[in-house]
Amino acid sequence: MNPISLSEISTITLIMKVGILTSGGDSPGMNACIRALVRVGISKGLEIIGIMGGLQGLLDGKFHEMQPRSVANIIHRGGTILTTGRSKEFKTLEGQMKAAQILEKAGIGALVAIGGNGTMQGMHKLQQVWSGQIIGLPGTIDNDVFGTDYSIGFDTAVNNAIDAVDKIRDTAQAFDRFFLIEVMGRDSGSIALDVGISCGAEAIVIPETKTNLKKIADDIVAGRARGKNFAFIIVAEGDEEGDAMEISRKMSSMVGEDCRVSVLGYIQRGGNPTRQDRILATKLGAYSIDCIVNGKTGILVGEIGGKLSETPFEESYTKKKAIDTFLLSLVDALSI
Ligand code: F6P
Repeated sequence: MNPISLSEISTITLIMKVGILTSGGDSPGMNACIRALVRVGISKGLEIIGIMGGLQGLLDGKFHEMQPRSVANIIHRGGTILTTGRSKEFKTLEGQMKAAQILEKAGIGALVAIGGNGTMQGMHKLQQVWSGQIIGLPGTIDNDVFGTDYSIGFDTAVNNAIDAVDKIRDTAQAFDRFFLIEVMGRDSGSIALDVGISCGAEAIVIPETKTNLKKIADDIVAGRARGKNFAFIIVAEGDEEGDAMEISRKMSSMVGEDCRVSVLGYIQRGGNPTRQDRILATKLGAYSIDCIVNGKTGILVGEIGGKLSETPFEESYTKKKAIDTFLLSLVDALSI
């Protein structure tokens, strides 16, 4: 019999139960990520425990062991087979300590959480009361997690919105109308920016920049005078001037015509993930298993400039992700 090498010993001692969960708003590609976690994890000798219902499900002990076949036929599906949720209880210290005890009792040695800023903050808190390893993965359509160029689901959401805006554009043009189209992004203008540029919006209204409705209205009126027969503006739901309904009330008198409003809503969050989201989800899921096997903890795994990256939890939710100001600066010139 061959002697066991040091690396084999470390692999043997690392065989452990890894809990995986999705938390906060679901995003297309979460399933592809779950699939990668389960299959790469099992192929590396780990036991993967699916936690249903996000952080509340953790507190309620909703655990089940996952097998390679548990994740068959999900790579192309939006939503999350683990289901998700938001937990008030987990936000309290008592909730975090209860979660630590439950994980201990279940013999779980590592946890992978896919979610947005709130989830990363929760993981940072859990890290302070639990000795297991924790890895966070960015899964949110809002693309506002610091430490990754793109979060899982953003690309699909943007493409869903582009598809809808292209359709609204047809009717806007047919009727010579002015539209305000609202996209998701409670605190983030990422979706609005990419959709606005991709669809040729007259203006893009986002929470990261000061919105000047008078200037936008003047531009619309001037555009009409130059022969533009229709116009649309993309509004991020979290803008400081209000949502699209409120902005339409403010702008109608400024432009001297009715503003039609279309709120795209949850349609953005569902549907089959794009190639980009499937690949990103698969890479991040597989790499987070490597991180666990290598003893890492307390990090968000992302991708920056095409390279896998690791960012401490605290930075991932306290640092503000910068908006692409160059792209934004092009809107006026592109809509002359
Ligand atoms: O997933 C993020 C997000 O889409 C935000 O842009 C939005 O404000 C929020 O979720 C709304 O989701 P829910 O109604 O599920 O809280």
